Amino acid sequence: MTTQKENNMTDRLAGKIAVLSGGASGMGVSHTRRLIREGARVISFDLNEGAGPHLVDELGEDKLIFLRGDVRKAEDWDRVVAAGRKRFGIPNVLINNAGISPLQSLEKVSEDEYRRVIDINQVGTFLGMRALVPSLREAGGSVINIASTAALVAFADLFPYVASKWAVRGMTKAAALELAKDGIRVNAICPGDTDTPMIRAIADTPSGALPPTDDLPFKRWAQPEEISAAVVFLASDESSYMSGGELVIDGAYTAQ
Ligand SMILES: NC(=O)c1ccc[n+]([C@@H]2O[C@H](COP(=O)([O-])OP(=O)(O)OC[C@H]3O[C@@H](n4cnc5c(N)ncnc54)[C@H](O)[C@@H]3O)[C@@H](O)[C@H]2O)c1
Repeated sequence: MTTQKENNMTDRLAGKIAVLSGGASGMGVSHTRRLIREGARVISFDLNEGAGPHLVDELGEDKLIFLRGDVRKAEDWDRVVAAGRKRFGIPNVLINNAGISPLQSLEKVSEDEYRRVIDINQVGTFLGMRALVPSLREAGGSVINIASTAALVAFADLFPYVASKWAVRGMTKAAALELAKDGIRVNAICPGDTDTPMIRAIADTPSGALPPTDDLPFKRWAQPEEISAAVVFLASDESSYMSGGELVIDGAYTAQ
């Protein structure tokens, strides 16, 4: 007898081996569940343990590896890739998802704090792509960089975040051009406000950064699963001619 869980599984991502940063919270947790439900295996890592070990219990060691690691450290990327190759095989999907969004204005942000945001959101994305390219070149593959609507428009009081996410969108296009000849696709996802600990922390602090939900065309935030659906599409061969682009999933916010 098949269980409900088995009935929900598909093979859209059969044979996919995905490396995911920031897998212990928010959208990273949702992406992990969805990728595995669609047939992928996932090597996930995060600075914090968070939900990581629990997810391994839930989804199984044969489907998910969770490690501690820092996207700012090239040696951590190498360790993650090596662990994945040893257990699952050559990774063919990279999801640069880890990020931070401290509320900081142009005038008040310290140089150290500005550099910290750039280091995690921008340099971390660069190090991830650089570490994975040799594997992706061997296996053919897809890179998914999680940018933001803050890579399309600006938000007050998120100065370093906006800078880092515009960079991620630009790096996505530059990498897509360089890597097309190797059969590697590189795309970005630009989520709007999405219900995770990150956006709740911003919402809990008075600032000009977050529009009230009543001002959003859909009058609500996205759910993480609504972003995971785009991750599945870009990880799968269904998006085989898409590269250098972005999927904007913002409930029409930037259409205004
Ligand atoms: N939530 C939103 O509204 C929203 C909107 C647009 C884009 N995004 C982007 O989506 C991504 C996921 O965000 P989320 O909302 O799930 O946030 P989240 O805070 O719930 O999760 C982010 C994860 O990244 C991890 N992380 C932070 N620094 C790290 C580092 N140096 N190395 C490894 N891991 C690190 C954190 O520990 C955390 O587990 C981020 O890139 C974020 O900028 C979020």
